[in-house]
Amino acid sequence: MAKMGTSSRVAAAIVVVLGLVLSLAVVCNGGKTSSFVRKVEKTVDMPLDSDVFKVPPGYNAPQQVHITQGDQLGKAVIVSWVTVEELGSNTVLYWSAYSKKQKSEGKVTTYKFYNYTSGYIHHTTIRNLKFNTKYYYVVGIGHTERQFWFITPPEVGPDVPYTFGLIGDLGQSFDSNKTLTHYELNPQKGQAVLFVGDLSYADNYPNHDNVRWDTWGRFTERSVAYQPWIWTAGNHEIDFAPEIGETKPFKPYTHRYHVPYKASGSTAPFWYSIKRASAYIIVLSSYSAYGKYTPQYKWLEQELPMVNRSETPWLIVLMHSPWYNSYNYHYMEGETMRVMYEPWFVQYKVDVVFAGHVHAYERSERISNVAYNIVNGICIPVKDQSAPVYITIGDGGNLEGLATNMTEPQPAYSAYREASFGHATFDIKNRTHAYYGWHRNQDGYAVTADSMWFFNRYYHPVDDSTSAQ
Ligand SMILES: *[C@@H]1O[C@H](CO)[C@@H](O)[C@H](O)[C@H]1NC(C)=O
Ligand SMILES: *[C@@H]1O[C@H](CO)[C@@H](O)[C@H](O)[C@H]1NC(C)=O
Ligand SMILES: *[C@@H]1O[C@H](CO)[C@@H](O)[C@H](O)[C@H]1NC(C)=O
Ligand SMILES: *[C@@H]1O[C@H](CO)[C@@H](O)[C@H](O)[C@H]1NC(C)=O
Ligand SMILES: *[C@@H]1O[C@H](CO)[C@@H](O)[C@H](O)[C@H]1NC(C)=O
Ligand SMILES: [Fe+2]
Repeated sequence: MAKMGTSSRVAAAIVVVLGLVLSLAVVCNGGKTSSFVRKVEKTVDMPLDSDVFKVPPGYNAPQQVHITQGDQLGKAVIVSWVTVEELGSNTVLYWSAYSKKQKSEGKVTTYKFYNYTSGYIHHTTIRNLKFNTKYYYVVGIGHTERQFWFITPPEVGPDVPYTFGLIGDLGQSFDSNKTLTHYELNPQKGQAVLFVGDLSYADNYPNHDNVRWDTWGRFTERSVAYQPWIWTAGNHEIDFAPEIGETKPFKPYTHRYHVPYKASGSTAPFWYSIKRASAYIIVLSSYSAYGKYTPQYKWLEQELPMVNRSETPWLIVLMHSPWYNSYNYHYMEGETMRVMYEPWFVQYKVDVVFAGHVHAYERSERISNVAYNIVNGICIPVKDQSAPVYITIGDGGNLEGLATNMTEPQPAYSAYREASFGHATFDIKNRTHAYYGWHRNQDGYAVTADSMWFFNRYYHPVDDSTSAQ
């Protein structure tokens, strides 16, 4: 064969080098796949007569009491509860050590799902609260009164420390109960939970037996009546069951769990934002349209430029289906949404993205994959200090069990992965530093099995990767 021309030799060399780079990128060591060995036992739901599902005593006693943030700034709280015997009062009585007793009046709703009829679901928003203040509140006025309390967040500001808990895919198994107990007893003391979707798993029961929504509400009350859980919709909230005539998606979820979506200009309760302390939290919906021109897309497009990092340095995004997931479960399910929104996350320097869905734990390095344009072949995640860290925390403990099957080898971008149940905390210290720790249920309450110091992407954008390279 004739000698190659110079240009074709150069081209061949480029191909070889490119091939080498690509194969390096694919094969080179990922982070750590934990070798932790857990007991192999089935994950089963707690039976209906379990202690955690007990109905509170007394005529028409409020049950399933839960709170969430009620506005964008943290000066309002939505208090929700269920009464069963009769409608009862929608009033919440509340006070602090510095204020007299006040009342707030809300609304009641009910719904039917196949042959299930809900109790009376009350939602009352209490407003104009003082920041950083402990409030007591009473529900069940006129019948059986029950008293709870919560502490409002400090006023929004760049150096306000605050500790968020992270729980996903909780369900109501014995393992779910362990996860919640570990969260409660974690000495890091989470002040509000960022819940990344999949609440009760009632839809795993025949006809989506909504009794299991009620038991979940009673099970979680011991935490969520005292501190807000910030809700994200997961696939188990869809409850779409045309075979039994249930064709309106999210019916039980939207009746039971209200969120302050209108306060952030959203037009649906599935995507919204709140500010809390020094964090700006954007909640997205993996199960609502997110393509160009859709309501969620238009909202996010105008939302991101409004985040003022001088006021809230920490930009956190919650969604259910992860974009970066190296388990062989729900593999690439988040891909279409990633393609739509990832360039924005890099442009606006999101600090961290929390997702659930995969019933295991995984933390990524800061990476992006935004260069690909169909024809250029550049389709491998690369290190990117403007990109978020992606954390999958779908390990709450629901009855579907653990995802244990992982892609091999571990991709380079994956810093740590482990198939164990647990929860995490994100502990913001100031505008530059946050300590993140993941806790597995088998360890003592104070043990972090995986941890990382986050450096804020706006105030302190230096490399905070935990890998050796
Ligand atoms: C609903 O229907 C199922 C099966 O068709 C039955 O087992 C259950 O008892 C019914 N529940 C109510 C509240 O009627
Ligand atoms: C759930 O956990 C709580 C707190 O640890 C405990 O008191 C309760 O007995 C547990 N219930 C079940 C059914 O495991
Ligand atoms: C951003 O927040 C800071 C601190 O609260 C404030 O001084 C500044 O005016 C805000 N910027 C905009 C564009 O609103
Ligand atoms: C793990 O997942 C892969 C890809 O889906 C599959 O081919 C393989 O059989 C699975 N391994 C086990 C042990 O289930
Ligand atoms: C922010 O918090 C980190 C970690 O606690 C600390 O090392 C650093 O000095 C703090 N920065 C300021 C300006 O206080
Ligand atoms: Fe899910």
